[in-house]
Amino acid sequence: MLVLGIETSCDETGVAVYDTADGLLSHVLYSQIDLHANYGGVVPELASRDHARRLLPLIRQALAQAGVSKTDLDGIAYTAGPGLVGALMVGASVAQGLALGLNIATIPVHHMEGHLLAPMLEARQPQGPFVALLVSGGHTQLYRVDTIGQYQLLGESIDDAAGEAFDKTAKLMGLPYPGGPHLAKLAKHGRSGRFRLPRPMTNRPGFDFSFSGLKTAVLHALAHCQTDQDKADLAADFQIAVVDTLLLKTQRALKQTGLKQLVVAGGVSANQYLRETLAQAAQQQGWQVFYPQQDFCTDNGAMIAYAGALRLAAGQCGSADITVKARWPMADLMPINNS
Ligand SMILES: Nc1ncnc2c1ncn2[C@@H]1O[C@H](COP(=O)(O)OP(=O)(O)OP(=O)(O)O)[C@@H](O)[C@H]1O
Ligand SMILES: [Mg+2]
Repeated sequence: MLVLGIETSCDETGVAVYDTADGLLSHVLYSQIDLHANYGGVVPELASRDHARRLLPLIRQALAQAGVSKTDLDGIAYTAGPGLVGALMVGASVAQGLALGLNIATIPVHHMEGHLLAPMLEARQPQGPFVALLVSGGHTQLYRVDTIGQYQLLGESIDDAAGEAFDKTAKLMGLPYPGGPHLAKLAKHGRSGRFRLPRPMTNRPGFDFSFSGLKTAVLHALAHCQTDQDKADLAADFQIAVVDTLLLKTQRALKQTGLKQLVVAGGVSANQYLRETLAQAAQQQGWQVFYPQQDFCTDNGAMIAYAGALRLAAGQCGSADITVKARWPMADLMPINNS
């Protein structure tokens, strides 16, 4: 089955073509980073307009790169939520219009399921049940996954997401938007151990996270930073505090569930220090960790095409309604029975 995937939930327009027999045939991405950089964050109205401008040319490009025609498609998958409503509407409208013209199915895809399944585009994948740690710009969540499509939420951030904490802290430190990768780069030059930053909620039972206090602690610590080296040292201690917190709760989830496989996905899963820390823990404690490839950690069309293809192959497709959801619990999704 040949599926076109469309991602427009935030500030990246992503399009991809996935074939259930031959795998990923193409993927193209347009990032709006430059458009929003002057504002220090995503401006929803500008995001929607830019998706509308970029989407059709990107679809043509993705089809051409895959060497297929739109009439070869069996379905069109699009991100139906969660995300910015205006931005989601662009993808949903284009998907429904195209599908109506071609008389093919549409598949509304949950953006976070897309992230969670991105590691399945790799040769090395988990087999059977696993714990998933989703760490992105808007979410920090731990799930137990017994079968694809059935997601049991174990815990999540009660305030800022991990990526949001990176971005807000980077902004406080005067780094460009989006701050996560810039802060991680600065942290490489830092000497850790100078700043005592909190690990909120780690001494409480359960799997919830809190990152907003960390940002405030960084704000206070910044008052003691005079040099670039001071800032790099603070960046290093911030990154360690986030990763320590993620590691502690993830280890707890693996222990409690008795599972030995961990999937980590979402933009922050690109973080090198997080990957090194988890690799070390996995080796010491006898579990395995799986990631998407670097460019599929952040938003992309490939993960949407893949998630849509799985659901279409399982006979699950959507209606012709153009409806999107700003909020959408993953627990509401249907299991995919052929997985
Ligand atoms: N190397 C890195 N280190 C830390 N954070 C990073 C790194 N690379 C990307 N990020 C962060 O990942 C986030 C973007 O990820 P993603 O595209 O998955 O989020 P989103 O789509 O905005 O949010 P959501 O998926 O929750 O709707 C940003 O907060 C960004 O700063
Ligand atoms: Mg995302």
